[in-house]
Amino acid sequence: MEESKRLVCSSSTFLISLFIILPLVYCAFFQIDRWKENLTNWDGNSSTGKKINEDVQEQEPLNSLLRRLVRGDQRIQLEDNGFAYLSELHSDIYIASKEVRFDTNASKIYINTSQALETYKVRPYALKGDETGMNLVAPIEIQVGNITPPACDYIHDVSAIVFSSGGFVGNVFHEINDVIIPLFITTRHFRSDVKFMITDFQPWFINKYEKIFTRLSRHGVINAAEIANGTVHCFPGAVVGLKYHGYLALNMSDIPGGYSMFDFRDFLMKSYKFKIKDVSQLIKLNEKPKLLLLSRMKTRTLVNQDEVVKMMEELGFQVVIVTPDMMSYFDEFAHMVNSFSVMVGVHGAGLTNELFLPNEAVMIQVVPLALDWPGNAYYGAPAKRMGLQYLEYKIELEESTLYDLYPSDHPVIADPESIKLQGYQAFRAIYLDKQNVKINVARFRKTLIEAIRLLGR
Ligand SMILES: *[C@@H]1O[C@H](CO)[C@@H](O)[C@H](O)[C@H]1NC(C)=O
Ligand SMILES: *[C@@H]1O[C@H](CO)[C@@H](O)[C@H](O)[C@H]1NC(C)=O
Ligand SMILES: *[C@@H]1O[C@H](CO)[C@@H](O)[C@H](O)[C@H]1NC(C)=O
Ligand SMILES: *[C@@H]1O[C@H](CO)[C@@H](O)[C@H](O)[C@H]1NC(C)=O
Ligand SMILES: *[C@@H]1O[C@H](CO)[C@@H](O)[C@H](O)[C@H]1NC(C)=O
Repeated sequence: MEESKRLVCSSSTFLISLFIILPLVYCAFFQIDRWKENLTNWDGNSSTGKKINEDVQEQEPLNSLLRRLVRGDQRIQLEDNGFAYLSELHSDIYIASKEVRFDTNASKIYINTSQALETYKVRPYALKGDETGMNLVAPIEIQVGNITPPACDYIHDVSAIVFSSGGFVGNVFHEINDVIIPLFITTRHFRSDVKFMITDFQPWFINKYEKIFTRLSRHGVINAAEIANGTVHCFPGAVVGLKYHGYLALNMSDIPGGYSMFDFRDFLMKSYKFKIKDVSQLIKLNEKPKLLLLSRMKTRTLVNQDEVVKMMEELGFQVVIVTPDMMSYFDEFAHMVNSFSVMVGVHGAGLTNELFLPNEAVMIQVVPLALDWPGNAYYGAPAKRMGLQYLEYKIELEESTLYDLYPSDHPVIADPESIKLQGYQAFRAIYLDKQNVKINVARFRKTLIEAIRLLGR
């Protein structure tokens, strides 16, 4: 009796387990599936094996896509009035989930709501607080409220994303930091169903990043100053201004699609059809590790470059020297960078190309005198966040040509902080524009040996 009771008991336990645990397990798997799908469904295949095509899919309603850009009070405002204004540290963002009319001739945006009229002056560029940069961005006016907007000349059926390609566009770091990454952060979750309305339009810039623009929008770009057969463009919704998360940064917890720097790098990889994902693939391909040396021509040049290259070659690197003119063929250049195991350069915008290196590649930044902070903030910390192995070669006083130009007790050498206090222009004129680097080859050699070690050679 005792035995059979136990048997009944254990079999009922078994049955209970079956009814309780199995659904739990099933649910958990289902959740994981959904979660994975959320992570992968914007590109390629979902974990369910269903091919998700960017072009043909069930689209999330526009309102919901726009709502994902805001939280808290702003979300309530957007839901109630069809308009929300976000004032963030580095950018102002205006979101409308109702009809927006953009008069390109007057640089005015009209949004008809039941509220009292409010007018905003906007410079849609993510450098809020930087007066020099923002002065290079044309303002547009947004009128929201009980207004009679002008009649539409063009009616578009997707949201407008309005941003400027003025500011510091022309410098590759700023192009990617101020525009391209913010554009990815703000629009990737629309899955290309947006139209870019670009102010301070520069055709070369659109051409340069064509692969990125066409992947983020399948509806193309509009020059916001173009007057074709009329000037009023109407959209069912709009985002004016782009979200910004810091130097070459994407903060996953604040991006509508939950995308990270790794997703952005994957996006670049697919946009440019890079072949090399991880540096280990290169190690199999090449006998010698390939090293790309970014050779600056005007400022922060490497005075003894020949000597440095000789040392690198002696250590067994295949060195390729790249000058800024070679970077003007952007797609080809990005593709080429992707084939290197190591990239070396003196602090400067060219280092932005670290974005195209394969995972676990080594990025070596030569940091001139007094440039530790920007060196780390702009390129060092981002390199680590994007899955590269980062090494810094901080020069010593004698390796700076400023040391030859000023006596050692001069504030430029002895107290760079005091020059910083004189303002950015004064600081820039000396440390960024007047300084070249004469590397101590014996000391730098150790950094390259460390690179070889990191590559697992
Ligand atoms: C997606 O799945 C299809 C078959 O279902 C396969 O042919 C294709 O290579 C997969 N693509 C990716 C990017 O995994
Ligand atoms: C553009 O605006 C100017 C004045 O601001 C006006 O004279 C001109 O007719 C406008 N052009 C069009 C096409 O609306
Ligand atoms: C503006 O919106 C109101 C409703 O909020 C509507 O009644 C009115 O017709 C709209 N005006 C124009 C000119 O579209
Ligand atoms: C402007 O109108 C002309 C003539 O109707 C047409 O050929 C042209 O494509 C139009 N341009 C745009 C940008 O719609
Ligand atoms: C990322 O975004 C979240 C949510 O807005 C915020 O709490 C967090 O501080 C941000 N992290 C960084 C590193 O900026």
